[in-house]
Amino acid sequence: MPFDALRPKITTILANDAESVTQRLTEVCELLQSSIGYYDWVGFYFANEAERTLHLRAFAGEPTDHTVIPFGKGICGQVAESNQNFVVADVKAQNNYIACSMYVKAEIVIPLFKDGKNVGQIDIDSHIADPFSPEDERFLEWVNEQVAEIL
Ligand code: SME
Repeated sequence: MPFDALRPKITTILANDAESVTQRLTEVCELLQSSIGYYDWVGFYFANEAERTLHLRAFAGEPTDHTVIPFGKGICGQVAESNQNFVVADVKAQNNYIACSMYVKAEIVIPLFKDGKNVGQIDIDSHIADPFSPEDERFLEWVNEQVAEIL
């Protein structure tokens, strides 16, 4: 499904005040994972600033052992410190990478800003090599902006 068709669906999910924020985030993950063929795992991590750790709050795809990630560790932990998008075309080429599944070939992590502060991120793993384009980045930045509105 093209990104433009997903936007209104995401807006509708996030506007549903009858559900908890975590439930709505899980539905966003499920929508993205089931709609975009190369999005094999989709999750939201949020930062605990005091502990300098990221905590998995919602996801779709195979369960992961990596529900808590220290700042600086792996792709996710690096984004917690850099505040920058991190697009990894080939995870094997990364030294500071935490493997969640032997099938993962590529990963994209986009920081989520609330009032200008990096409070979390969306993380997507792909079983396809080098699948992510700048369109994915723009779309996922938009998703995170919508999520920030309900935090
Ligand atoms: N690969 C990530 C860890 C999280 S899993 O992809 C779910 C990383 O290197 O930070």
